[in-house]
Amino acid sequence: MTDDTKKPLSPDTLAVRTGQMRSPEGEHSELIFATSSYIFANAATAAARFAGDDPGNIYSRFTNPTVRTFEKRLAALEQGERCIGTSSGMSAILCTLLGLLKAGDNIVSSRSVFGATVNLLSNILPKYGITTTYVGITDYESWDQAIRSNTKLLFLETPSNPLTEIADITRIADIAHSKNKLLIVDNCFCTPCLQLPLQLGADIVIHSATKYLDGQGRCVGGAIVGSDSLIGQDIYAFLRTGGASMSPFSAWVFLKGLETLSIRMQAHCQNAQQIAEWLNSQKFVNEVYYPGLESHPQNKLATKQQKGPGGIVSFEVRGDKEEAWQFIDSVKLFSITANLGDTKSTITHPSTTTHHKLTKEQRCEVGIKSSLIRLSVGLEDVTDLIDDLKQASSHMKK
Ligand SMILES: Cc1ncc(COP(=O)(O)O)c(C=O)c1O
Repeated sequence: MTDDTKKPLSPDTLAVRTGQMRSPEGEHSELIFATSSYIFANAATAAARFAGDDPGNIYSRFTNPTVRTFEKRLAALEQGERCIGTSSGMSAILCTLLGLLKAGDNIVSSRSVFGATVNLLSNILPKYGITTTYVGITDYESWDQAIRSNTKLLFLETPSNPLTEIADITRIADIAHSKNKLLIVDNCFCTPCLQLPLQLGADIVIHSATKYLDGQGRCVGGAIVGSDSLIGQDIYAFLRTGGASMSPFSAWVFLKGLETLSIRMQAHCQNAQQIAEWLNSQKFVNEVYYPGLESHPQNKLATKQQKGPGGIVSFEVRGDKEEAWQFIDSVKLFSITANLGDTKSTITHPSTTTHHKLTKEQRCEVGIKSSLIRLSVGLEDVTDLIDDLKQASSHMKK
């Protein structure tokens, strides 16, 4: 079809069709290749595969056909040359950093990143001689000034978790490239349906597939997307030996998730926008953080850089932790859980859960207050969701 018309397939088609290989059984849905190893026709083939002279499968820690289908599909959607599936979003970050860096190297990172990422950068990597300099996500001068001769890469998450701050990816990519550094972007909140960091200048995209790529809260996984030359060498070698590979079952869940990602993301955005607007008009709410609101400091940038504001809405209740917990404990429909990106709406208290490992000072610096609540708006009827928030607010002390 493509050969006749030369017209590239649209992302919605790529999400459904890319990477499938059919067995002689002619199955319509993709197969789960539940095998740890692969047979070789003879000893010489085995040797050729291990030597890298024959590209066939060896062992599922290295390659697996179901994982490959997921990788091809996500690479097509992110418009990247290559994707590597990993066992979690955190292992995608770990493999990327340890694949590219060595003792003595430095990372310049946005301060506003996921709590476990801060823990990795601040507490774990220093043990291996890798340091991190933190900068404000939208403080472009600081990004520039923080780069030192031993800085190898810049890291950011946009929109950030949980405050939905937005960085200008092109601007930070320009800063990185002007000094010969790489830019890595965690695209977990937007997914390729809403934002294409590689097209905006990033060198590598990271995903927690656990979130929207799955979309129904079933599996933990991650992905790294970029050029073959950048991620296919040291990063892939680290993953293959370190063993943080994606399981075939998880890959199957994620590749089926990709098929509905675009319509899910549109629906998440629509519901989240209505909830953000409703929260914005409530007396029990101090502040709402949602890129789709005009009051959001990077609302214009979000409109330019993203195809939609996303499904995450954070807000501060009037009061402190006690009031935030009271609200959380009063919801009936929202699930109290730390995951996000699910069809089921979730509610989280970041300062005591996802970001509890940050020091009080670190939380204060990034603006994560005890009164902050994060919603991952799901696909239930939005009126039911607003009714639930309304009844929860009626339990708040007046
Ligand atoms: C933005 C972001 N990046 C990375 C991760 C880590 O992903 P995983 O839990 O799949 O390891 C998360 C998890 O919440 C996240 O929100």
